[in-house]
Amino acid sequence: MAKVKTSFFCQSCGTQYSKWQGQCNACKQWNTIVEEVIQKPEKNDWKTTPSTNLKKASVPLRINEINSAKETRLNTIDSEFNRVLGGGIVPGSVILLGGEPGIGKSTLLLQISLQLPYKTLYVSGEESQKQIKMRAERIKPDSENCFVLTETKTQNIFKQVEALQPDVVIIDSIQTLHSDYIESSSGSISQIKECTSELIKFAKETATPVILIGHITKDGNIAGPKILEHMVDTVLQFEGDRNHVFRILRAHKNRFGSTNEIGIYEMQGSGLREVTNPSEILISKKDEDLSGNAIAATLEGMRPLMIEVQALVSTAVYGTPQRSATGFNAKRLNMLLAVLEKRAGFRLGAKDVFLNITGGITVDDPAIDLAVVASILSSNEDEPLPKDVCFAGEVGLSGEIRPVQRVEQRILEAEKLGFSTIYVSKYNKITLKTTAIKVNLLSKIEDFVVQLIQ
Ligand code: TYD
Ligand code: MG
Repeated sequence: MAKVKTSFFCQSCGTQYSKWQGQCNACKQWNTIVEEVIQKPEKNDWKTTPSTNLKKASVPLRINEINSAKETRLNTIDSEFNRVLGGGIVPGSVILLGGEPGIGKSTLLLQISLQLPYKTLYVSGEESQKQIKMRAERIKPDSENCFVLTETKTQNIFKQVEALQPDVVIIDSIQTLHSDYIESSSGSISQIKECTSELIKFAKETATPVILIGHITKDGNIAGPKILEHMVDTVLQFEGDRNHVFRILRAHKNRFGSTNEIGIYEMQGSGLREVTNPSEILISKKDEDLSGNAIAATLEGMRPLMIEVQALVSTAVYGTPQRSATGFNAKRLNMLLAVLEKRAGFRLGAKDVFLNITGGITVDDPAIDLAVVASILSSNEDEPLPKDVCFAGEVGLSGEIRPVQRVEQRILEAEKLGFSTIYVSKYNKITLKTTAIKVNLLSKIEDFVVQLIQ
């Protein structure tokens, strides 16, 4: 009997070892090395039978002789998805979509395949054809172009692909696939690597775009080796709070476009809806004025986004006051409270402070600092802020209001949404000639406190 070939792989970075060891030499992680069964493939090719459309060996070309004008992107109809990709799907590209379970990855890609005017093959290793049909019925049941296949073996998938000749292939998910060339079970590092490289080879040789769904681990990385993210052309992340309706699609890596664009969706009973005016939805339209609410003019990628910050400051019941933040870094909240205490003489030491960013969104744009400070001051004084005022500024440790990037874009968004005043740093260079909105320039937090609480 032939000896079973095994090898050791680091679960975190994918480095291969011939024997087990406690720490990975490459990524220095402990206890990440596991044994997997492998079998060297005789012929590691997505197609075992040579066919006419296999490319000949490539030859070097002068860069100015390469024709790039031919590159036409596939329009996915979904304008948010197109924008994140940089204008549509590039033929032959491999896109990896990651996200937490239940966030809506399968829904998003099924919806896109139902809308696409091209022939798409949706390969699922997780759900049966009936289950997919049931899901499709909620979104858009009648599509002539969408084919569904439940299969997990890559060789069988390629056979079906050759027969069907789809324009786009979607794989749900890469962790469920397995290749005959590798013995270890699906989801293992060597299987994921092998299946991905077969799919990449297929995509490049036939110019068919492939979209892969990837599961993520507890700490938010795509399950499988980091090398997977290096292999594919584009890595997209679908994020959001499962209990809220908003979902954000972000590009973490994009060989064919910028990574600054984001797409915003709303999960509805009938699939995902594109949100084209996120600011209007994120700001609650209340009739009565409430204390502790402030609007921040933030930027998510390239898009300006008006976000509502809510703070609640109350007398601490226990000896140690509580500080909690949802959607905002708790350490940063503590820092802002310390700055307020030191620079503006606020005694917040004996108060509980709760902070919440509405809409289930997490913000790491530092420009939100000023709105956080404003909402805390407003709640502390129990004085509502004027409804048509918004803020964009970073607060430094010495209490200075620091400039933020692309301030003019934020001002224009605020103006568009009907705000009458925006507070920004004095050090921002503003050449904009706005008439409708008043731009209040601040240099120190002390001035800000005085202006806000008159
Ligand atoms: P799913 O797309 O299966 O998530 P993933 O593939 O990322 O694990 O599930 C998304 C969730 O969305 C699921 O809990 C049900 C819900 N959902 C809707 O609210 N509306 C819909 O139209 C569909 C299809 C799903
Ligand atoms: Mg799924």
